Amino acid sequence: MNSSTPTKLAVLGTGGTIAGAAVDPMDNVGYAAAQVGVAQLLGSVPALPRLLGACELVTEQVAQIDSKDMTWAVLYTLWQRVTHHLSQSDVMGVVITHGTDTLAETAYFLHCVLSPELLSAKPVVLTCAMRPASALAPDGPQNVLDAVAVALTPSANGVMAVCAGTVHGAEHVQKVDTYRRDAFDSGDYGPLAYVEEGALRQLKNWPAPGAKPIGEAVHRQAQSNDWPRVEIVMNHVGASGAMVDALLAQRAAGALDVPVLRGLVVAGTGNGTIHADLHAALRRAQSAGVQVVRASCCQRGRVLPSGDVDLFPDSQGLSAVKARIDLVLSLMMA
Ligand code: SIN
Repeated sequence: MNSSTPTKLAVLGTGGTIAGAAVDPMDNVGYAAAQVGVAQLLGSVPALPRLLGACELVTEQVAQIDSKDMTWAVLYTLWQRVTHHLSQSDVMGVVITHGTDTLAETAYFLHCVLSPELLSAKPVVLTCAMRPASALAPDGPQNVLDAVAVALTPSANGVMAVCAGTVHGAEHVQKVDTYRRDAFDSGDYGPLAYVEEGALRQLKNWPAPGAKPIGEAVHRQAQSNDWPRVEIVMNHVGASGAMVDALLAQRAAGALDVPVLRGLVVAGTGNGTIHADLHAALRRAQSAGVQVVRASCCQRGRVLPSGDVDLFPDSQGLSAVKARIDLVLSLMMA
């Protein structure tokens, strides 16, 4: 693209609190998410035209949901639409407005499935809000401005999340707060950058693409909404393994209307530790052909090799929800 070619930025709306509305502007919790369309949302950011300059916005409402209700079908649509926009030679990057609750999962999913060629050249920036659009002091407009500033940075590439002036990489970002505006953290890894008055202070390299070999088989399964069933179980005081045994019984019964259980992620305590009774149930699951991955509930650190590490492979530093996405994709690629 030569310097006189007008550039575009695609902004895809999916819903969330950033598009939420409450009757009472003082009500920051009793609101309905996903009420305001993405074009209207952008229209409420007065400084946006100045930041964009000659860059044109292209908007698309891919979904309008509370992100707690995110589905594989919506993720697949988002994957396809992001691919479409990134593939346009005049589109510099994509911004996605999203609910905070499952933003980290969507970011990680896109990081894994988007083509490395596209991702190593252009950015995909997810953003969100912790206060609805109708609030006395909504945080969405500033987050949108910051996300656009990141997406317009000429060298930017990879999948990122921007919230409260902090830029996180898709692999490490986690929601860590139920209420405060600065709700995300990247654990030990730390943020990639800060956005300060529209300028980027970059601390780390842009995130390398997930580079999973997503072939035709994955596309076929995703298109027909045939995602392997992987559940998450948690270790805790008195964890009995009853949930795992119930899932195995359902699997053995072979009910046609319930997807077959293919994998389990155990969100272990501490260094991925698992109660002896839950451990025994997970071994039964493994013997029945279910893949088991061990993650940790801890927000920092990773599961380090211990005596029984070979029995359940660890999540390679991924949180339980991201390890689940990883396992779903690897089962599809198998
Ligand atoms: C959502 O995740 O869609 C609702 C909560 C939020 O965006 O903060």
